[in-house]
Formats: sequence, structure tokens, C-alpha cells
Amino acid sequence: RNRKRLVDCRSDIDRWNAPFLAIYESLVPAEEEKAKQKQLLASLEKLVNKEWPRAQLYLYGSCANAFGVSNSDIDVCLAIEDTDINKSEILLKLAEILQADNLQDVQALTRARVPIVKLKDPVTGISCDICINNVLAVVNTKLLRDYAEIDGRLRELAFIVKHWAKKRGVNVTYQGTLSSYAYVLMCIHFLQQRKPAILPCLQGMEATYVVTVDDIECAYFDQVQKLREFGAKNTESIAKLVWAFFDYWAHLHDYANAVISVRTGSIISKRAKEWTRRIGNDRHLICIEDPFETSHDLGRVVDKYSINTLREEFDRAANIMQYDPDPCVTLFEPY
Ligand code: GTP
Ligand code: MG
Repeated sequence: RNRKRLVDCRSDIDRWNAPFLAIYESLVPAEEEKAKQKQLLASLEKLVNKEWPRAQLYLYGSCANAFGVSNSDIDVCLAIEDTDINKSEILLKLAEILQADNLQDVQALTRARVPIVKLKDPVTGISCDICINNVLAVVNTKLLRDYAEIDGRLRELAFIVKHWAKKRGVNVTYQGTLSSYAYVLMCIHFLQQRKPAILPCLQGMEATYVVTVDDIECAYFDQVQKLREFGAKNTESIAKLVWAFFDYWAHLHDYANAVISVRTGSIISKRAKEWTRRIGNDRHLICIEDPFETSHDLGRVVDKYSINTLREEFDRAANIMQYDPDPCVTLFEPY
């Protein structure tokens, strides 16, 4: 494996700004899609409220965090206070209600890590996963969306990285590679540590948004419209940032000792988190701290085989960005 640090970015890197932006534009969903999602959410909420009048539905994940490509499935959280019934019972009841209303492919997965009901809406064609009381996911969705408002380069970079990860087969958590959520956190961290910084650390600022969820206090500065100029001192182009992102993960990140932490806007040590050795199934081979559930390493899915796959892919991408005559094509070639 070529671990040699690239000395300097190729001088012609900006030639690829327009093509990378074109790829980004082609992935961004059209406005009509949002409207359809809202419509489906409203009709689902009506159904749900017949059984549970005070329950509410929230969108989370990529359909609500600004990092969703077009035609993706939507993630919905059913917030319900009746704590005396268990989640499986709620899910089974929910599946029954949805089926009776002619929604398609209704399936309750009560034994999954995050238990859900799956369904497809025949009217809009949208597929949807509904989970119960996963309020932290709703809050981290807002955090990601708020970061996306600060500097447009985050959204551009994250779309390109997610697209790369899907094409290269390294966005499959059950195969030991990373979730989309993990990739977006990697992008935020990367832009926080850029010099000059392109993103601030919202959790390190005066809290204007505070909620407590499952005993975890989630607090950060969310008046992001005031931060629109934050990254202005850094004029790096998207092509340069894609280059630097892969250089960072291929050559600069200290896999043995470092934990990336969007919460603190910096790197913290594995030692400080006691993430130096394998505990249960958590091997901590690449460490990505969840911004709110700080004991949670989003790299926990990565095993001793998939870490090599990942690092080889980062190397490949870094080399393409440095040397390839047509990086916008080669980068996304299917594996
Ligand atoms: P795509 O569906 O691939 O476009 O991306 P996505 O943004 O929907 O990401 P993903 O399916 O990985 O996760 C959906 C949402 O679940 C994320 O936005 C998070 O809010 C939440 N989530 C996913 N994984 C975790 C996790 O390990 N911990 C926590 N707390 N939340 C998670
Ligand atoms: Mg999703």
C-alpha cells in the first residue's frame, strides 16, 4: 500500500470544479420530491393518529438532513408516549394499520438492531422505514442540516463522498464499511479542521438549542444563518477539497490513536475514550465519535478485513485525485 504523503496538490486541480459540481447537481433531489414526502408523511400521521391520537411523526436521516440524493427511501420516526406497551407490539399494531390502508410491502422487522416497519406508498412510489421513539436520530438529523446551512461546500463534498462510497461498495454497514451518517460526520470534521476552518464547532459555542433525549443533553448553537460568512476566509474549491479529503483519510489520519470528534471540533485520543482495545464487537479500528451519544463509535462496524478495504479505497481515491487524467470518471468507477 502506498502510504506516502502526497507532497502538494496537483496544480491543475481546479479544472475539475465544474465537472464535480455537475455531478453534485445531478444528485440533488428536485423540489417536487420534498412535497411528495411531506404529503406521504401527513397521510401516515392521519392514519397513526386514529390509533394513537397524540403520536407524532418526524422525518429523519437523509430525507431531512440535506444530504439525501433523489429517489431515496425516507426514514420516519414515530414518537409515542405510551411507554407501557413495548416497541414490538407497537410495530406489529402499526403494520396492521398500514396494511389495512392498502400500503404495499408492509413488513414489521421487530428483531432488527433498530426495529422498524417497512412500507411502500403506491401513490408516490416512496419507500419508507418507520421506527419508534428514536428521537436522538431526529436531533442528529437537525445538527447535520444546520451544519449544511453554514457553508455550501459541506453539502457538495458530502454528496460526492457518499456517491463515491456507494459506487465503490464501501457504504454497507453489514459488510463492515461505514454508514452514510458516518461519512457525513467525516466531512464535517474535515471541514472543521481545515486551515482556515470552513465549519465551526456548533457544540462548542453558546447553546441556543437544548433538548434532553434519553438522559443525553443535546445542546448547540443553532442560529446558523448568522454563520454564513464563517468559511469565507478559506477559498478552497470543491475539487481541492475532494482531493484533500481523500489525502486526509489516506495519509494524514492517525488510525492507531485518533478519534474524530465533531462535538469538540477536533481530534481526541483513543486513550482518553478508552477505545484502545476491542471490547465485545467494538474494535475501534477507525474511530468516529457520535456527536451526542459520545460512547458510540460509528466505526464500530469496521472489522480487521474491512478496515483494509476502506483504507485501500481512500488510497485509491487519493491517487486518482492526484494523478488521474479524468478523476471525475475514474473516482466513481464501480468496483
Ligand atoms: P442514505 O439513506 O444512505 O442516503 O443516508 P442517511 O442519511 O439516511 O443515513 P443512514 O441510513 O446511515 O442513517 C439514517 C439516520 O439514522 C442518520 O441520519 C442518523 O440520524 C441515524 N443514524 C444512523 N446510524 C446511526 C448510529 O449509529 N447512531 C445514531 N445515533 N444515529 C444513527
Ligand atoms: Mg436513510
